[in-house]
Amino acid sequence: MAPAAANEESPYLRHWSRVYAEDPSARTREWHCAFDDAVDVLRPYVAPIVASSPSRSLVVDVGCGGSSIGYDLAKAFAFTDVLMTDIDPGIVEILRERYASSSSSSSSSSSAAAAPATRCEVADARSMPTVPTGAAVVVLDKGTVDALHGDDDKLATLRECVRMANRPDGVGVVASISFPAADRLRLLERVARETRVGLRVRVVGDGDPARGRRAVFVAVLGKRVERVETPRCELSETVLARIRRSGSVVEDEPAGEEDALTLFDDSDGDGDDS
Ligand SMILES: C[S@@+](CC[C@H](N)C(=O)[O-])C[C@H]1O[C@@H](n2cnc3c(N)ncnc32)[C@H](O)[C@@H]1O
Repeated sequence: MAPAAANEESPYLRHWSRVYAEDPSARTREWHCAFDDAVDVLRPYVAPIVASSPSRSLVVDVGCGGSSIGYDLAKAFAFTDVLMTDIDPGIVEILRERYASSSSSSSSSSSAAAAPATRCEVADARSMPTVPTGAAVVVLDKGTVDALHGDDDKLATLRECVRMANRPDGVGVVASISFPAADRLRLLERVARETRVGLRVRVVGDGDPARGRRAVFVAVLGKRVERVETPRCELSETVLARIRRSGSVVEDEPAGEEDALTLFDDSDGDGDDS
């Protein structure tokens, strides 16, 4: 695992510092979806935390970029603190200015609630030792795991998210918002199994990705999430069943034998491929 501090050698830092330096629109971009598109899915998991929260309650957004979802969520649910983190010091500096001047300016959904105390820090999502285990009531990953290469970095980040939300009272949750992909489901299930937390996945968007519609996964991990009652969602059931059946978000049937590549032609039927 790479060290926690963002270092010059990190390919992630190299890539994203260039993105934020060269493209001003990236500094306010919301990847996948905005707070308003995800809040109805998150509410049944997040709202009960408020009732059982201690006097201080922290939301952590890993790889927040220019997104305001961490801030918006903290404000909407009256959590007291939010920590916005990213590997790029450039975007973190922009966020510091944004939230210092008007900590309520980016919130679209909760004008009445008090603004959370907001800190913006440089951190590598794969290892965040400055956030103690169980320090957060909610940890958010929106598009950050998607931006990492390979299972090792993705798994390290998801495990780190679960660690930060692993509160002794069991109320902490991780919300991971990502591309809808069979591989992502596999990683989420693996982390849930290893860390012994529950997992729920919703598919949110304008329709079935198999019909070319735009959809995202909104996954929630936490010790108690499987006890939470939520309304049925036909789109989620369809897409998740298809993935389990075929290993694909868009294909209804698993590859048949006729699709298999054949390296050796045994046309003489003697069973000897050599
Ligand atoms: C696809 S963008 C998503 C930004 C934001 N979360 C959103 O939803 O709009 C990926 C973000 O992850 C950040 N990032 C990439 N690698 C990272 C890492 N190892 N640690 C922390 N942040 C990282 C990038 O700087 C970028 O802001």
